Amino acid sequence: MTATPKTLAWMGDRLRLLDQRRLPAETATVDCHTPDEAAEAIRNMTVRGAPAIGVTAAFALALAALRSGASDPSAMLKALRVAGETLRLSRPTAVNLAWAVDRVLEAAGNPRLDSVKAIRDAVIREAETMAFEDVEINRRIGRNGFPLVPDGARILHHCNTGALAAVEYGTALGIVRTAVERGKRVHVFVDETRPRLQGARLTAWELGRLGIPYTLITDGAAAFAMKTFGIDLCVVGCDRVASNGDTANKIGTYHLALAAQAHGVPFYVACPVSTIDLNCASGSGIRIEERDADEITRFNGMAVAPADAAVWNPAFDITPADAITAFVTENGIVRPPFRTGLAEAVRLSAVRPRFRL
Ligand code: MRU
Repeated sequence: MTATPKTLAWMGDRLRLLDQRRLPAETATVDCHTPDEAAEAIRNMTVRGAPAIGVTAAFALALAALRSGASDPSAMLKALRVAGETLRLSRPTAVNLAWAVDRVLEAAGNPRLDSVKAIRDAVIREAETMAFEDVEINRRIGRNGFPLVPDGARILHHCNTGALAAVEYGTALGIVRTAVERGKRVHVFVDETRPRLQGARLTAWELGRLGIPYTLITDGAAAFAMKTFGIDLCVVGCDRVASNGDTANKIGTYHLALAAQAHGVPFYVACPVSTIDLNCASGSGIRIEERDADEITRFNGMAVAPADAAVWNPAFDITPADAITAFVTENGIVRPPFRTGLAEAVRLSAVRPRFRL
């Protein structure tokens, strides 16, 4: 087994990100010195995956606090709020981003912080705490979810939800990892995940380094793989879960869930509580990010479609709640009816002490 390089690392005065755009060919890093550089790294997908972009946004606010020339607390809070607005817009679908910004701004706004230095220290501490908690949350999701994986399971996975999508370990892939660590034999069918190929470039790379057997398939082969190989379960991540259980995740998740339903395959969503948006009543309230046409019309700099092709490129889709078997959260498994179970998972995180540094 070879450890996955760290997705992100706080260097005291800058944020170091593994450049996921260059994997698997190259293991390179990018240093962000300002909040705008971090926002751009989120936008251009140097860093991606809902938990990872949430923690990146938290450290981006730490950069804002460090770089601000504010001479009094209210000017510092204003600078943080301005940086927070830019970050929120960098990728709109994953609620973890807005959740992280809100949480750091709340820590910064503590009325007991009476100096610029006290606010700066609190912001950095909150970002470090969130990074630390993310690892523990992923481990708990793994521990809660691994009993869903039968020994010898054939598992279908979409996008990348591993260590690269989080601070460490991973959510949906974390469940697979825990199952393997507990002695279960598995085989993972990896959707390549058009158009950015997070499955082919990142998930296959991570599984290979972990020594977990896998087979890479095109997204279009998923239903046929279910029929041909008898897939035992699908497990995916999520970017925003509405209070009724409708789930935004990487484009292609919806048709995977429909194929699973048609073949009687359980469909599980690994879901940190920070990805549940109780303010959103259903999937129709989730804003779906649309990305550039050239993600589809070009490949490795080469034209693969007419330059003037009309393109629709949603980065995410919405899987309706009734196509989901269960959510695996750090607070336990949530089965239908989802509305009450998801609300209870959120409540538990609010009343439980945080895993403080
Ligand atoms: O566009 P991406 O690569 O950021 O999309 C990532 C996904 O859709 C993941 O499934 C989701 O963020 C969960 S990652 C634990």
